[in-house]
Amino acid sequence: MNMDSLLDLRTFLAPEIVYGQGALSLSGRHASNFGASKVFIVTDPGVRKAGWTLSVEKSLKGSKIPYAVFDGVTANPKDHEVMEGAKICRDEGCDLIIAVGGGSPMDCAKGIGVVMGNPGNILEFEGVDMIPNPGPPLIFIPTTSGSSADVSQFAIITDTRRKVKIAIISKMVIPDIALVDPGTTATMSPELTAATGMDALCHAFEAFVSTAASPLTDMAARAAVRIVSENLLKAYQEPDNMIFRDKMMTASLMAGLAFSNASLGLVHAMAHSLGGALGLPHGECNALLLEKVVRFNYPASSEKYDQLAEAMHLNMEEYGFPEKGVVISNRITSLRKQLEIDQKLIDLGVRSSDIPRLAEFAFMDPCLATNPKEAGLEDIEKLYHQIYE
Ligand SMILES: [Fe+2]
Repeated sequence: MNMDSLLDLRTFLAPEIVYGQGALSLSGRHASNFGASKVFIVTDPGVRKAGWTLSVEKSLKGSKIPYAVFDGVTANPKDHEVMEGAKICRDEGCDLIIAVGGGSPMDCAKGIGVVMGNPGNILEFEGVDMIPNPGPPLIFIPTTSGSSADVSQFAIITDTRRKVKIAIISKMVIPDIALVDPGTTATMSPELTAATGMDALCHAFEAFVSTAASPLTDMAARAAVRIVSENLLKAYQEPDNMIFRDKMMTASLMAGLAFSNASLGLVHAMAHSLGGALGLPHGECNALLLEKVVRFNYPASSEKYDQLAEAMHLNMEEYGFPEKGVVISNRITSLRKQLEIDQKLIDLGVRSSDIPRLAEFAFMDPCLATNPKEAGLEDIEKLYHQIYE
């Protein structure tokens, strides 16, 4: 009997999760349960305009808890936004943070929490388990079905001086409570539905084939792949149908629990590099990269990819190794095209001379460590060229 497979230690971490229509309106009650004297709401202008921040404000007023609102967060949240938010949070005397929004406000809120609990600059906490002290309690309310920062132990912040995204990975950035209300995704544009949905699919794919996967993460990742396959296109085509919205929020949550605990891989390493160096949107970058990385990785993890093919309802009977990898990749391409994500890097303003530097940053990204196939600088450059023009 091979004992090696029995000896792998795995931890599974998750916040308290309240899921369902109306979860958003529970923010006041939960803030009150924590004994908050003043709440710091972190959001962005788009989410504020959509009205979701106001719903949280109403809930806090109902519980008679004062608050301050910070909406100075942009896509690919920046180190100086975290530091500015932390200063205001401290000046306002807030002792609990509520994040309302997609991945950017949520990651910025995590960064603010880190700096509130630990004096210093947010960039000092880069890496795994580098946060000594907990910050204030975090209540997170996601308004997209993709990033899952509301359940993850990852915070991705842009180091604006080095133009690179840093990863802060620690149980200290797992929110205390995730209030997951699928109703909040009703205001996402079809483009955002497509990009965030493909991000969720990447989370599930990468977690499932990760070298740090476990039976628990596999269960969540496989289910997420199935639900995204069945519902993402419908959510894109029928944005007012709340059944598809609900399914996509469930899939995103499952993919988030999977990747938070199994980590990610080459797709995210390469997407982080594009986001950090050039500010390109996370979901679109992932969507363009996934099909290429599946072909690259397939020989190293064919048995697991075949399980994902089954979850996507692909009929693989007539194919052998390694054609099955191509079939899965083609299915992802087809979904991406139906979602009208069809740009090339050149259309997004990337120059071919940028590629060596992008590959270097991707090569240093911590997500690469759990990719099932080793990828060298040359491999990564080749993959960027495949989506260049
Ligand atoms: Fe992602």
